[in-house]
Amino acid sequence: MRKPLIAGNWKMYQTTPDAVALVKGLKGLLGQREGVEVVVCPPFTALPVVAEALKDSWIGLGAQNMHWEKEGAYTGEVSPVMLADCGCRYVILGHSERRQYFGETDMNVNRKLRAALEHKLIPILCIGETLAEREGGRTIQVVDGQLQGGLSGIPAGAGAGIAVAYEPIWAIGTGRTATPEQAAEVHTFIRKRLAELWGEAMATAVRIVYGGSVKPDNIDALMAEPEIDGALVGGASLKADAFARIVQFEKV
Ligand code: 13P
Repeated sequence: MRKPLIAGNWKMYQTTPDAVALVKGLKGLLGQREGVEVVVCPPFTALPVVAEALKDSWIGLGAQNMHWEKEGAYTGEVSPVMLADCGCRYVILGHSERRQYFGETDMNVNRKLRAALEHKLIPILCIGETLAEREGGRTIQVVDGQLQGGLSGIPAGAGAGIAVAYEPIWAIGTGRTATPEQAAEVHTFIRKRLAELWGEAMATAVRIVYGGSVKPDNIDALMAEPEIDGALVGGASLKADAFARIVQFEKV
């Protein structure tokens, strides 16, 4: 069975002292929970101090973006080698905020995804539609394009080392979460497409997590859907007690 994955995307929040305090609070609240993978994704500047604070902890460390080259004249960028050097095992790729504000394309996301795999990082590939696209009945088409674009040329054997995050843009930071049924419908489509790309067995192994206004009060209902394998949490991951409650979801 797929192990649920709960990842916190801290976005552009938390100076180093705040980051250390947050992760220490989280460690204290979480204790040990079997059967769930938990990851925090601080901003680049806080990666080393969070890695240090997470030493001997079962909580994993991830980054929010990276470049695809391992080094080079790319001012302002951070490479997969550098992330691994900081103790990262995961990297969020293709987040809608990167697509929207920084011109990230499916082609670049694909390059990054290949590079992540090459450097033994677990990519969390983000895909999702805008409100206008949903209202125009184009959700599946948009998600499909981003999925196939991001995964282009990735062999089936790599599938189990990739997580997909379905994050409808209209649900991000808005407090308006997708209903469990809306999310499950898209997740079911994603898995069907993965089965076509990689075969049934591999598709069954891929974690498909939901992101968009995930909170302590809606996580249980989301996780009750068999096709929802976890969550990518923004705002609520900045509060230790809220994130801990999300990690301690109950299957209702
Ligand atoms: P919120 O949980 O703040 O809606 O953010 C979701 C998100 O973008 C996670 O990557």
